[in-house]
Amino acid sequence: MRVWRVIVSVAVVGVGALVILYFFMERLERKTVRLEFNEEPAVVDTSDNWRVEDLPERWPEFFNDSLAALGEELFATRGCRVCHTVGGGDLVGPDLANLRKRATYRWSLLMLLKPDSMQQYDSTARRLLKEYGVQMPNQKLTPQEAEAILHYVLKGGRNQNSNSSGR
Ligand code: HEC
Repeated sequence: MRVWRVIVSVAVVGVGALVILYFFMERLERKTVRLEFNEEPAVVDTSDNWRVEDLPERWPEFFNDSLAALGEELFATRGCRVCHTVGGGDLVGPDLANLRKRATYRWSLLMLLKPDSMQQYDSTARRLLKEYGVQMPNQKLTPQEAEAILHYVLKGGRNQNSNSSGR
């Protein structure tokens, strides 16, 4: 009898320890980064090969023509055009023409790379989600693709100012 009691308690403690170890390992596995956006910290899962610190904070001074051309293509092929315009007004999501004025480059990149995390943890993204009532999907962009799209946005905004016939 006594022997069984000892065996059972050892087994229970052992399983408990394994469960705790498992959760601990999983926490280590998910490399998350805390960011201070607005008044609330955003936790961004960066397990896929890029780091938030590597994303530039400020918008580039000028757009790069070949990046902007690639961005225009991605804007069409990755579904952005279904929900957004650059200077043509709101669709399902906001018009991106003045993105530069209302958001930092890093925030915008994170919005393209991790809309799901942003909608969960960033207060501005949460407010937008409430306002537009549709959850922007994660289009699985690489940081380079996201940068190209933002160069296109930068270019589009400028065309809008200087050329009223451009869409
Ligand atoms: C199904 C529609 C949909 C698709 C597809 C989509 N978005 Fe969005 N997007 C939204 C909505 C709605 C919002 C508002 C907030 C939210 O839902 O997170 C948004 C928010 C944004 C924001 C922040 C806007 C702001 O005013 O601060 C950016 C930038 C953006 N989207 C860019 C893109 C890009 C680039 C793509 C393509 C890779 C894309 N979106 C694909 C619907 C979409």
